[in-house]
Amino acid sequence: MSVKKCVILFSGQGSNMENLIKKKAIIQSKISYVAAFTDNSEANGISICKAHNISVHISDNENVNLDLTNFLRLYNPDLVILAGYMKIVPENIVNDFKGKIINIHPSLLPKYPGLNTYEKVLKNKDKYHGVTVHFINSILDNGPIILQGKVSIANNLTQAELKSITHKIEYKIYPIVIQWIANDIVTLNNNKVVFKNKILESPITHLIENEDL
Ligand code: GRF
Repeated sequence: MSVKKCVILFSGQGSNMENLIKKKAIIQSKISYVAAFTDNSEANGISICKAHNISVHISDNENVNLDLTNFLRLYNPDLVILAGYMKIVPENIVNDFKGKIINIHPSLLPKYPGLNTYEKVLKNKDKYHGVTVHFINSILDNGPIILQGKVSIANNLTQAELKSITHKIEYKIYPIVIQWIANDIVTLNNNKVVFKNKILESPITHLIENEDL
């Protein structure tokens, strides 16, 4: 059985990373988190890596992408997992690792790429909100979508409540996608997501009941 070598990139809290590391058991022995990389020497995620014995590379270089390139050369991972990594991954890396870099974003893309999604969702009084896991391309939050987790939004939610709900969705759906990739159930072919040997014509969307979060 082949084991996929994964690295995780983060910039801050690292709660998604921690969730993935803790849920590794359900992915059995098909993946191994070999190292992590951060562009922020004060990121909380660093202590999470240390607590789980995952080697973490902290870039303090003005040219973070040079450090990232060297890091990826060193580990040559099968999968690069972005978990709250706040820098744009440069095109040369995207091309070198085509179909091997995934990201999680706190909105139902293509709605609300970029920052401040909670603010936008509440301001627009959206009925639904959710999370998207996608392969990356060189445009921010734009690559082919694999899976979305969606919930209906109750009236009068605060941003903090919406954020907390969103994180719970993230903790559910990111491990699912990683499990699919670990088992070669999901791949990228000609910029299209292939799921169980068929091209996905539209993203897989899972409506989650609020009680199930
Ligand atoms: C998550 O909401 C993720 O979707 C976004 O950045 C946030 C990172 O949170 N890309 P954490 O660092 O995993 O707690």
